Amino acid sequence: MSESSPNNDIRWSSRWLFVLAAAGSAVGLGNIWKFPYVAGENGGGAFVLIYLVCVGLVGAPIMMAEIALGREGRSSPITTMAKLAASAGRNSQWSIIGWMGVIAGVMILSFYGVIAGWALKYIGVLASGEFENAGASVVESTFNGLLASPVEMIFWQTIFMVGTIWIVARGVSQGLEKAIRWFMPLLFVMLIVLLGYSLRSGGFEQGWQFMFDFKWEDVGPGTWIMALGQAFFTLSLGMGTMMAYGSYVPSEARIGSTVATIVALDTVVAISAGLVIFPLVFVNNLDVAQGPGLMFVTMPLAFGQLPFGSIFGSVFFLLVSFAAITSAISLTEPAISYLVEKYNSSRWRVAVGLGFLCWLLGLGTVFSFNIWADLKLAFGLNFFDLVDQISSNILLPLGGLLIAIFITWKLPRETVAGQIEIESEPIWSLWKVVTGVVAPVSVLVVFLNTFVPFF
Ligand code: PHE
Repeated sequence: MSESSPNNDIRWSSRWLFVLAAAGSAVGLGNIWKFPYVAGENGGGAFVLIYLVCVGLVGAPIMMAEIALGREGRSSPITTMAKLAASAGRNSQWSIIGWMGVIAGVMILSFYGVIAGWALKYIGVLASGEFENAGASVVESTFNGLLASPVEMIFWQTIFMVGTIWIVARGVSQGLEKAIRWFMPLLFVMLIVLLGYSLRSGGFEQGWQFMFDFKWEDVGPGTWIMALGQAFFTLSLGMGTMMAYGSYVPSEARIGSTVATIVALDTVVAISAGLVIFPLVFVNNLDVAQGPGLMFVTMPLAFGQLPFGSIFGSVFFLLVSFAAITSAISLTEPAISYLVEKYNSSRWRVAVGLGFLCWLLGLGTVFSFNIWADLKLAFGLNFFDLVDQISSNILLPLGGLLIAIFITWKLPRETVAGQIEIESEPIWSLWKVVTGVVAPVSVLVVFLNTFVPFF
């Protein structure tokens, strides 16, 4: 593609920096906050196994597809899709994938900002030492106190959103790349320390069994779609984030091994978070299915027992907040890159506008935990659950489905082969079957299973 676009000349300075940025996008609240709580609500092992299958069979090929399309188009996802469709003689409506992604991004960021706000607040709560040797009831009542106060939640949500937008407005900066280099490994170290603690907590076996014992009878009606949606959410797929980031990938980087690295990193972080949290749930007789508060109750309990726990705990929530910010930035990238391209307007104006929209929509999530807690909007879901389910479990898999179909069946082979660098014929066929058949059919079957009664 040779047409010029404002994004045309920007490149990650190396493949490794791209891996860091993509991992920064993938690793976030999805791994540490959402994965354990959704697994807890959906039967543990039954959910985890299906989730892992979705990551490998659907997520990995779609991530390759997104990065390949992004690098081929070298523009925002909306423009990339329009350009590639036009050059292959296909309908220009394929750019709908980009639009859906922008909508999904706004919806996800709206609640992401609220939850990340909780993490920000906990940096200080832990540092205050209030949880030293505290029992479950103290930790729970602190968390419930936060949920009961919309004003406090809005305060922290606002801080997080302002921080995110400030970074976005200044452009994906060198500083951020440097920071990811430090924070990511630190987050790993922290998880390993915590794993050591939960191994000796007395609940490890039970936690392990909960996560890995697969029983068919635990697979409920919602398990499939929740696991599929989680795979998309945690890998930042189906909404153009990886396509937007892919547009900055240097031509010589190999997509296959890059994707393998990102997927492995992301999965290891999620599984470790689960292995830290579930044992603590069982030793402390907490409810595995308690929902979004799971991390904010179990982690402080652990830190309360550890030497220097207040400092460690504070650093832990700092790292979680940082992981959240690198993901939040990536949630805005499809929309921002398009708006900048289209209107040639300043990144500042566009970023502030988008940020405000997400913040405003996020108020619905804030109220879902207090004044609107009993307000069920549709399907028995409150505002937060509805926004989360529509974006994570419907828009992302649907986007992924279309991306997989587009790259395998609508683009000329030379274009795709040039990007994903597969020379041997059997491997090409395998790639085509997995991306063009297995991945989309899996999404379709899960959709039918969920939305069509008696399927
Ligand atoms: N992957 C991020 C997380 O796990 C969330 C995200 C979803 C980011 C979609 C970008 C796009 O927290």
